[in-house]
Amino acid sequence: LQRKPILGIETSCDETGVALLRWEPAAPGGGLLAHTLYSQIKLHADYGGVVPELASRDHVRKLLPLIREALAEAGLTVQDLGGVAYTAGPGLVGALLVGASAGRALAWALGVPAIGVHHMEGHLLAPLLEDDPPEPPFVALLVSGGHSMLVEVEAIGQYTILGDTLDDAAGEAFDKTAKMMGLPYPGGPTLARLAEQGRAGAFRFSRPMTDRPGLDFSFSGLKTQVLLAWQQSDQADQTRADIARGFEEAIVDTLIIKCRRALQACGASRLVIAGGVGANRRLRGELAAAAAKDGFRVYFPRLDFCTDNGAMIALAGAIRLASGQHQDASVEVHPRWDL
Ligand code: KG4
Ligand code: ZN
Repeated sequence: LQRKPILGIETSCDETGVALLRWEPAAPGGGLLAHTLYSQIKLHADYGGVVPELASRDHVRKLLPLIREALAEAGLTVQDLGGVAYTAGPGLVGALLVGASAGRALAWALGVPAIGVHHMEGHLLAPLLEDDPPEPPFVALLVSGGHSMLVEVEAIGQYTILGDTLDDAAGEAFDKTAKMMGLPYPGGPTLARLAEQGRAGAFRFSRPMTDRPGLDFSFSGLKTQVLLAWQQSDQADQTRADIARGFEEAIVDTLIIKCRRALQACGASRLVIAGGVGANRRLRGELAAAAAKDGFRVYFPRLDFCTDNGAMIALAGAIRLASGQHQDASVEVHPRWDL
């Protein structure tokens, strides 16, 4: 089983991701053979956010062509597959069902095992797709559109949640703040680009929940502060960039303060960053600087594997399948699911 390629399918939100991976911890990229991705961003842009029904339908349209494309890229046929992994949650229920149904059906037809993967475990393990991957134990900061979590990883599959968000996730705060300032969907990356033109020190916002002990996050108050600053400003282009910069600095600082605390609390010397916000340049740069100063190591997935993708699902699934785990043939998804 371990020798045979695993198909990974990601359809939890607005990206259809497919990958093929032959799990080999020592191989470059963890044994990744091919990966393909189709982003639905254009489809949802007019609505200012993801429309669940449109997302499901587009996954239906794109999934099989992407699987064919990945197989062709790897020079394989479906008969070569040793198993199938798909995202079983958390996410949009209709979108999840597309990947789960296709994955289950394919596995059943081929007579190979299938496994439903936790989307955040996928993100968490994405740095293992890089050369020189992190060895557990490590601390992981998972920052995406739906989550802001600090997790202690004692071993693969052994996770302790150290901190979580009390309200908005970090990516959600980026997206909502961008929308408030009139930036088009998807706002997070646009806001981050704009922040690069912002002037240092023009706006300063608070670093929420850093003045008390603990590892939880809260970003909704920060969002309100930014809204007030924006409403009271001249709303010129430079002002928008200045506010974006102040906001990004506040988020990045807050995340780094909590990462340092978590590393100290666990006595860990390795930090893994994953999830869409892990693509943020300021976060990557400042964490690298903090790591050099404090003497810990930080591991990021490549930019493409910070945001949603099939490779991380293939990897998490392949590891679980290799350890003998798989599930019966029922198509089950979990729109809400604790890690
Ligand atoms: O992991 P992901 O692709 O999907 C979820 O599982 O949520 O993360 C998407 C989130 C969005 O909120 C997006 O705005 C944010 O990641 N994001 C960024 C950047 N790139 C993506 N936030 C800040 N800076 C970026 N460069
Ligand atoms: Zn995600």
